[in-house]
Amino acid sequence: MVGRRHLPEDILVDILLRLPVELLLRFRCVSKRWYALIKSSSFIEKHFHHKNNRARLLVCNLTMSLDEGMSIDFSLLPDKIVPDVHPELKILHQLRRRVTDFNSVAGPVDGLFLLEKVEPNPEDDNSLALWNPATREFWPLPPVTFELQPFRDHNYQFALGFDPSARDYKVLWIQKFWDDVSPNCLVNVYSLRNNSWKNLKTEFPYCCSLHNPIGATHLNGVYYWLSGRLDNKSCRICSFDMCSEQFGEMQGPVFPNAQWGQLMLRGDSLALLVGVDPCKPTSIYDVWVMNQHESSWTKVLTVQPLIKVSHLPCGVGEDDKMIFQIDETSQLVLYDPTTRQITDLGFQLDFIYGRSWVSNYKESLVPIRRGNDSQGEDNAVEQIEHFFNRFEKTCGPRGCYLKN
Ligand SMILES: *[C@@H]1O[C@H](CO)[C@@H](O)[C@H](O)[C@H]1NC(C)=O
Ligand SMILES: *[C@@H]1O[C@H](CO)[C@@H](O)[C@H](O)[C@H]1NC(C)=O
Ligand SMILES: *[C@@H]1O[C@H](CO)[C@@H](O)[C@H](O)[C@H]1NC(C)=O
Repeated sequence: MVGRRHLPEDILVDILLRLPVELLLRFRCVSKRWYALIKSSSFIEKHFHHKNNRARLLVCNLTMSLDEGMSIDFSLLPDKIVPDVHPELKILHQLRRRVTDFNSVAGPVDGLFLLEKVEPNPEDDNSLALWNPATREFWPLPPVTFELQPFRDHNYQFALGFDPSARDYKVLWIQKFWDDVSPNCLVNVYSLRNNSWKNLKTEFPYCCSLHNPIGATHLNGVYYWLSGRLDNKSCRICSFDMCSEQFGEMQGPVFPNAQWGQLMLRGDSLALLVGVDPCKPTSIYDVWVMNQHESSWTKVLTVQPLIKVSHLPCGVGEDDKMIFQIDETSQLVLYDPTTRQITDLGFQLDFIYGRSWVSNYKESLVPIRRGNDSQGEDNAVEQIEHFFNRFEKTCGPRGCYLKN
C-alpha cells in the first residue's frame, strides 16, 4: 500500500524532542500517535532535560501605581545576553487589570511555579496556585482544612517539589507561630495527585529559622534551606524529602569570614553563595558546591563584582553569571565573572512598593491539570487575573473561572 508512511519512532522522538513547548502543543493534534507520544511522561522528562531546552532568566516584576494599581510582568530574557546591549524581553505573561492580591512567586521546579496570594488565609480561602507558563495551565490549590492552633504572630514558608517514586508534585506549607513560651511549627503538605492537603505530624525543631533560598533549591526530590545563622562561621542545612515526607539536617561548610549566605542551585548541584562585606562596593562572593554525598563542600568560584553602588545578589544564571539588584538606580544587572563585564538588563524596577523575582527557567510540558484536557487552557490570563482579584471570583473544586 502506498500512503503516508510513518517515521520510525526513534527518529520522530528525536525530532520532536528538539522543539519548543508551543510547537509541541500544536503538534499534539497531528495524530493519535503524536498525541500519545507528546503526552507521555518519558517524553516530557526527556524534553525537559534535552540540551536544546536551555535555561533562561525569567524576571517577574511587580509594580504599584495609583492609577493602574498592581501590575505584574513575567519576562523571559534571551539565551545569549550581549554585553552592553539591553536584551530583548519576551513577555510570557502580564497581569495588568484588576489584580489586587498577588503576593509572590516561587519556583520553578520542572518548569512549574507556585503563585501565592496576599495574606494566605488557610481557613476560608484558596491562596496558592500552580502554574505552567509554557502550557498555560493554571491550577488553584484547595484550601487547607486543618484547624490552626491559636497563635499570636506567625510567618510561613512554601516549597514546591517532586516526589519521584509516586511521580507526584507536592507543596509544603510550613507555618511558624509563637505561643507564650516558644515558637511552634505547623506543617502541611499538598499532593497534586490527591489534590488535597494533609497535616504532617513532625518533630521539627529547626523550622524556626529557615532562610529563603535564591530560587527553588529542589534537587532529586529533596528541598533544602539554610537554617540557623552563619555566625559560628559554619551553618546548618535543613532538608525535606518529598518522598518520605521527612525533614533532615546536615552540617554546611565552614566560612572563615562570611557575613551573608544564601542557598541556591548551580546546574544540578546544591550551592551556597556567601558574601564578605555583602552589598557594598567592596563585596566579595564565594560559591560553594555540595558534593554528591552531602558530606563535603568545594569552593568553586570567587567573585568580586566591583559594583560601585549598593547592590544585592538576586540570582545566578548559566555560566555563573550573577544578577544584582541595584536599589539606587532601580536596575537589574548581569555580571559575567569571566569577562568581568556588567550589563544592564533594561528593567526599571519598583523597589519601594513593588518587588521582583529572578529565576532560571526551562520550559516544560509537565501537566498540572488532571482529568479533562479540553478545559480552557486558553483563558489562563483571565483565570490568573481572576484568582488574584479579591473582588470577583467564582472558585470551585476544579479551579477558578470568570463569572459569565
Ligand atoms: C495521597 O493519598 C494517599 C492515599 O489515600 C495517601 O496515602 C497519601 O498520604 C496522600 N498524600 C498526600 C500528600 O496527601
Ligand atoms: C517590568 O519591567 C519592564 C522593563 O523595565 C517594564 O517595561 C515593565 O513595565 C515592568 N513591569 C511592571 C509590571 O512593572
Ligand atoms: C470530562 O468531560 C466529559 C465530557 O465532557 C465529562 O462527561 C466528564 O465528566 C469529564 N471528566 C472530568 C473528570 O471532569
